[in-house]
Amino acid sequence: MWSPSAVLTSKVSDAIADAFGDDLRGADPVLRPSQFADLQSNAALPLAKRVGMAPRDVAQRIVEHLRVDDVCAKVEISGPGFINLTLSDDWIARQVSSAATDARHGVPQEEPQRVVIDYSAPNVAKEMHVGHLRTTVVGDALARVLEYLGHTVIRQNHIGDWGTPFGMLIEHLLDVGEGSEEARAVETDPNAFYQTARVKFDTDPSFATRSRSRVVALQAGDSETLRLWDELVELSKHYFNAIYSRLGITLTDADLAGESTYNHDLGRVCEELEASGIATMSDGALCVFLEGYTGREGKPLPLIIRKSDGGYGYGTTDLAAVRHRVRTLHAERLIYVIGAPQSLHLNMVWETARKAGWLPPDITPVHVQIGNVLGEDRKILKTRSGAPLRLMALLDEAVATARAAIDQDRPEVDEATRAALAPKVGIGAVKYADLSVGHDSEYVFDLERMVALNGNTSRYLQYAAARIRSIFRGSGTGADDVIAQVKIVEPGERALALKLLSFGEVVSEVGSELEPHRLCTYLFDLAQTFSVFYEQCPVLKAEPQLRTSRLALCALSMHALVTGLDLLGIESPETM
Ligand code: ARG
Repeated sequence: MWSPSAVLTSKVSDAIADAFGDDLRGADPVLRPSQFADLQSNAALPLAKRVGMAPRDVAQRIVEHLRVDDVCAKVEISGPGFINLTLSDDWIARQVSSAATDARHGVPQEEPQRVVIDYSAPNVAKEMHVGHLRTTVVGDALARVLEYLGHTVIRQNHIGDWGTPFGMLIEHLLDVGEGSEEARAVETDPNAFYQTARVKFDTDPSFATRSRSRVVALQAGDSETLRLWDELVELSKHYFNAIYSRLGITLTDADLAGESTYNHDLGRVCEELEASGIATMSDGALCVFLEGYTGREGKPLPLIIRKSDGGYGYGTTDLAAVRHRVRTLHAERLIYVIGAPQSLHLNMVWETARKAGWLPPDITPVHVQIGNVLGEDRKILKTRSGAPLRLMALLDEAVATARAAIDQDRPEVDEATRAALAPKVGIGAVKYADLSVGHDSEYVFDLERMVALNGNTSRYLQYAAARIRSIFRGSGTGADDVIAQVKIVEPGERALALKLLSFGEVVSEVGSELEPHRLCTYLFDLAQTFSVFYEQCPVLKAEPQLRTSRLALCALSMHALVTGLDLLGIESPETM
């Protein structure tokens, strides 16, 4: 255990158990940073009521039982009964020295779980919108973090590859001709294809009629129709993959599990729910009514699983997906990284699955709610300079903005290097903007701010990592080769060492709380703490022992920055 708060949490818990008996061990030791000490425990306050003593006396008893001689330099009681804990420089130095030799730099290897994570999920023959961009980026960061923590991560890209729009899409494909330029455009820019089909459907009655019978043929499994459908899916895969590869997303074709995957199972899902009485007929549709779900005027809100025309809905597919993920993929943890407005839908699906016994009691699915990305007008970002939003064009714009910023800030860097840097900085900036705020909060898409060198941006972090790389270039040693007993002399060294000790804990928290912004905040703090250290403490010019000690702190800082960025799916260029 490297992290001071983890070590002291268990020490305080032990002291509470010793002082007041084992059944109070679970009393929360509540440790938090304080301006008076490295950490402060306010365990005594809630405990006082339970044991019927004054808080200060409780604090006193805890301190008497606290065995921290090797960890703390000072333990003090303050105010109404806070316990102030100041770590000893020596302990910090020892901990950080051993973290330096740990291959995982303090990130724990957790008890492995099978985690199924649903993210990205764009729709076939349709442009991905910024909401899809964000679930893709956030989901991918979570998948990377969970994998790094030792879990078996099963990615499920639940693409929208089925449903009524395919009638018009297939008819439009026939109209423009398979292999035609318009059809092939789906690989790069699906917007036009979809929009044209839509307009024809809305304005041309004979096209609409053809489209409707095409849907019937598709659902009946007509082989020619299925071939055409497959063609559209294939074209779309190229588009998705182009976006994924541009963004450095880990999803592959093997992770595709679109809505159509569950077609064969939908009839059974409905039959079973009907047989068990969970679903009932209402106005010709098969519905699940759940307690506490009401719509307008307090009317019970149904989850429709089979429409009156016999078609199945989005919810039916999701029910089949839950069942598949539990039974076949053997999920122990279920994560859905999906837009916040789908929360009601997901809750109804999960509750139904729970009733049906498809979702065992020990699995609590989690909806990682994705908030909106706004334009400068503070409305959902849908257009760029008047034209409908094309994701690829947005990414081009991000790279161009990064290039302009690099040209301005680093004119001395040669042209080829600047050109190579621009995509790493620009794409990193787009991803970091999605990741660094709470996943459920909205933010304004502002490229200038996102590529700034100052502030909580990926470029600032990439710069911090590159700066440390350059220290190593000047040192004659590789970052991996420094073996040192770290010494704490200056306050800057102490602060940096302390910060480094909580890297593993933060990564682990991202895995448990599913909040990538915690890692961003940590990395930003770390980069700033490093900056202060570097101002205070000469590295290469220090006397030999101190020089290796400081190089070890540099190496750990770089590892944390590079690993942290990598877990967020962001590259760390050699030079900036
Ligand atoms: N395709 C859907 C959309 O674009 C998202 C699907 C999310 N995943 C799921 N299992 N429902 O809104």
